[in-house]
Amino acid sequence: MKILVVGGGGREHAIIKSLKKNKLIETVYALPGNGGISSDAICVDIGAKDIDGIVNFATENMVDYAVVAPDDPLVLGAVDALEAQGIPCFGPNKAAAIIEGSKAFAKELMKKHSIPTARYETFDNLDDALKYLEEITYPTVIKADGLALGKGVIIAGNKAEAETALKSMMTDKIFGESGSRVIIEEFLEGPEVSVLAFTDGHTVVPMISSMDHKRACDNDEGLNTGGMGTVAPNPYYTEKIQEICMKEIFIPTVEAMKSDGRVFKGCLYFGLMITNDGPKVIEYNCRFGDPETQVVLPLLKTDLFTVMQAVTEERLVDLNVEFSSDSACCVIMASKGYPEKYDKGYKITIPKHLKDNVYVAGAQRCGEDLLTAGGRVLGVVATADNLEDAIKQSYSFVEEISFDNAYYRHDIGKRALARLKKGE
Ligand code: AMP
Ligand code: GLY
Repeated sequence: MKILVVGGGGREHAIIKSLKKNKLIETVYALPGNGGISSDAICVDIGAKDIDGIVNFATENMVDYAVVAPDDPLVLGAVDALEAQGIPCFGPNKAAAIIEGSKAFAKELMKKHSIPTARYETFDNLDDALKYLEEITYPTVIKADGLALGKGVIIAGNKAEAETALKSMMTDKIFGESGSRVIIEEFLEGPEVSVLAFTDGHTVVPMISSMDHKRACDNDEGLNTGGMGTVAPNPYYTEKIQEICMKEIFIPTVEAMKSDGRVFKGCLYFGLMITNDGPKVIEYNCRFGDPETQVVLPLLKTDLFTVMQAVTEERLVDLNVEFSSDSACCVIMASKGYPEKYDKGYKITIPKHLKDNVYVAGAQRCGEDLLTAGGRVLGVVATADNLEDAIKQSYSFVEEISFDNAYYRHDIGKRALARLKKGE
């Protein structure tokens, strides 16, 4: 079989490595992939947002199945366009991807179906939004409605900061058209948990939970990033919390989408906060998380392609999806300066024995060499039968990998480990 994977980051590398365990899969194309992915797939220089290019490539090369991984092509309707040509896909269609594409849609859905989330108001007009700032307490959270590369959230400590944030989004358009409409929502407190779930629109199968580390520096200091590391499972996500989530959040969300005529098929990402009032939804994503996928898929015992096909064919109910009881840790090695300015083009050295522990996010091949080409360069992953060993192991692998200006956090999993020890 020939499979096409749209995207080119660490998440896509993890998906491709998992897919290749299935012997039915002979060829994997990555559009566009990256220099590291090129060791595992045929990379084709077609951008993830080039829907016509993707569809033409898929039909010309008689691709049997497509996995659309990033948010942009999903929201732009890549799945609809591929399916129109008879190519089965993993990923939601455009109508369902709106759950991530519009935060206002997601909030409205939750309100209508009583799914627990932060209280909020939506505004299309700056004056109304500014007036609303008089009525609320601080800190408050201001979010651009549309996709903003994961950056469209500003936490404002007081009214003046909130005014500045609103003006920068709605007037100065720092997040482009994404900020024409904004949401102002209640500030929630508590540990965050990411839960990715397979769903075919009827059945929902949560994967193992994980914890992202979004800030650039140790002790959760510095700027927000795309994620500097992850661990799985997340110790804050107890069995009791899982039961509540299933009953109050996961099943109601899938049912709500179905009743709205937007059957969601693919991976639905629940960004949760475990508050004193119970778990609440911070955000939905219509796709696998990055770098959550890098710790979740190595713990999936059932064959990934088998699960994906069951999702596409809406027969997930018949499949027993199993996860290992091990733990996993992913440490992201980035280029110094990320998420702001950083240099590119440094040679990356990865010992051969670590090939299966590295998911490359931002690198380009230059002859035999692999050179840095992005802010987040690669993720280093280890699994073990306990979290402490998984963390130790991934950091010992990090020590063996080198490139100039490499930067990584030293405390990935520290909070999770402290929580586990407290619970013992
Ligand atoms: P997002 O881009 O939606 O993932 O938001 C980025 C981060 O902002 C989240 O991971 C949270 O840490 C924080 N955040 C978002 N919404 C809220 C909220 N209502 N209360 C507190 N923190 C929030
Ligand atoms: N790790 C957060 C995300 O994928 O959006």
